Amino acid sequence: MLAPASMAPDLGDNGGSFASPDMALLPILVYPDPRLHTVAQPVAQVDDALRRLVADMLETMYDAGGIGLAATQVDHHLRLVVIDVSEDRDQPMTLINPEIVWASESKKLNEEGCLSVPGIYDGVERSTAVKVRAQDDQGQERVIEADGLLAVCIQHEMDHLKGKVFVEYLSLLKRTRIQTKLAKARREALRT
Ligand code: NI
Repeated sequence: MLAPASMAPDLGDNGGSFASPDMALLPILVYPDPRLHTVAQPVAQVDDALRRLVADMLETMYDAGGIGLAATQVDHHLRLVVIDVSEDRDQPMTLINPEIVWASESKKLNEEGCLSVPGIYDGVERSTAVKVRAQDDQGQERVIEADGLLAVCIQHEMDHLKGKVFVEYLSLLKRTRIQTKLAKARREALRT
């Protein structure tokens, strides 16, 4: 997820200081890539290969100025999400096999953006607070209570694991406009 200016922590330049030579930036799928609609499979084992993917996803997220990234977005169809909503970009969270065990009835409209839908921000209604059960990168199960930006981000990223992109909450008219805009941006990028 990309936070719009109104919600965003101060992201600075990027998270370059986090990077190490062992990590790699992963290509991010861009809407309406059909692979974004793949339903993710549960992670069977939290091992070094998975931790490597987590490290690469965090580097990719920081590099792109995002506050959340789902494995789906980098074409790995596993129930895995990384998030960092901290101002200093130094509190990475890894959610493996996340399940929402409680969501508040109270909802709020928040402006959201997404690394897979560059340049587009729009309002989505989400529960204001959630409880999520997930494993961390050591395979330890824990329950996270979230509100504010973290709650929004968790719901946004978990939608990706279901194959859902936030623009699918918007009207058909808006989605058509977004697809036209992204297609135009792609054509312009090819020309330069
Ligand atoms: Ni997203």
